[in-house]
Amino acid sequence: MASTATNFISLTAHAQNEAAHASASVLYRALSVPKPSRKAREDGTRYLQAQLAQARDLPCDMPASPDDLHAWVNERVTHVGEQYAAYLAARKDGAPRRYFATRSHALNFIRAVAPTKLVDGSWLYGTLRYWENPDFHPLILTYLEELGDGDPAMNHVTLYKKLLATHDCDDWQTLSDEHFVQGAIQLALGYQTERFLPEVIGYNLGYEQLPLHLLISAYELNELGIDPYYFTLHVTIDNAATGHAHKAAQAVADIVAQQDDPAGFYRRVRDGYRLNDLGMSTTSVIADFDPERALVAVLQEKTAVGRNMHSDYCRFAGKTVNEWLDNPEDAGRFLSELERAGWIRRGSDPEESRFWRLINGAGAEMFGVFSPREQQLLHDWITRADGNNRGMTFRAAARVRATREAVIGRTGMHLVGADNTTSNDPAALITALSPGAHHSAQGLQATRKFSAVLRG
Ligand SMILES: [Fe+2]
Ligand SMILES: [Fe+2]
Repeated sequence: MASTATNFISLTAHAQNEAAHASASVLYRALSVPKPSRKAREDGTRYLQAQLAQARDLPCDMPASPDDLHAWVNERVTHVGEQYAAYLAARKDGAPRRYFATRSHALNFIRAVAPTKLVDGSWLYGTLRYWENPDFHPLILTYLEELGDGDPAMNHVTLYKKLLATHDCDDWQTLSDEHFVQGAIQLALGYQTERFLPEVIGYNLGYEQLPLHLLISAYELNELGIDPYYFTLHVTIDNAATGHAHKAAQAVADIVAQQDDPAGFYRRVRDGYRLNDLGMSTTSVIADFDPERALVAVLQEKTAVGRNMHSDYCRFAGKTVNEWLDNPEDAGRFLSELERAGWIRRGSDPEESRFWRLINGAGAEMFGVFSPREQQLLHDWITRADGNNRGMTFRAAARVRATREAVIGRTGMHLVGADNTTSNDPAALITALSPGAHHSAQGLQATRKFSAVLRG
């Protein structure tokens, strides 16, 4: 008997260990389709169990009692506000940007957090089925607001897709597995809410608090000429007075109070809160950027197609361009040789670099080989740009162009005309509101209907 029990425990531990190392990106892909398979949803359960086993060892700054949640949320907001004021004062006194030294750094950030942002709100999807219980309404309203209540100009996923497309950052699928951990957790929570309700509301509480990094990144994106609207929208919509942060705390307090074992339930809420700290965070993504490493990675990707495309006229350190491109490992050394040969002049205007002129501008011989994002990377590497240079902000540029900042213009989308959905029954609409479906034309229509019923 004892040995059976031991076997069971070790098997469970083994299964958990396997799940902990299961690919986040594979699970992410399987759960971000409109209708995930049963197997994918069950894989999500195992994945969550493994992530929770890791999260339990992490510190947790949530108050010991749910009664103190509102005061705790307010204190945090005050503290973040003070830190942001100090940041602004430092910037006014000439401090460089804190996060993004260059525009390419900022674009790298936008691309690196794409897997998380493209499933924004998904951890709350499973709360929709509780639409008849008023205690769930704060969570459901939060989900509907993530979906822009069915308005494509305000749907957070649609907004982020537009941001990615505008800056040629939509090749995020090749990011490392670590970049998919948060998205995989969010989707798994959204599809296993019945099993993990305390963890869902705890995760939501953590995710919806206003972080300092959101304020700073929005400020610096604008400074670098990148539309910060997706980020500023979250500053306002997640606010602690009436917004998502407030609703998150309210939901925890209300739902914990209904439980037979409030203390045990609240312990699990805290575990869910800790899930926010797994995988890559905004700040670790930002700190992880190294311009030269990023540029070498771009060159390595090009070698497969470029290795036989060049003539043999030019040699660098005795090797032809094709020979250099033959081995992706040589990309870094090739870059140094280009510099040594004077084809790249670092610290100068890129126009003085022969290599830059080959890839950039009308008539360039290698026009189209480097995407605008990749060109920005090379440009910033050549100029050795730092966090002190200031160009025209996104907002100033928008004013100059007299661009009407209507949100419709941001997404290029309009409310979809014809109504193809057949039902007004919330239960029948839920499938169309899934994380992989809500941003389609049909999903947006269904969201508008669901929202109208719920908001009465
Ligand atoms: Fe959002
Ligand atoms: Fe939110």
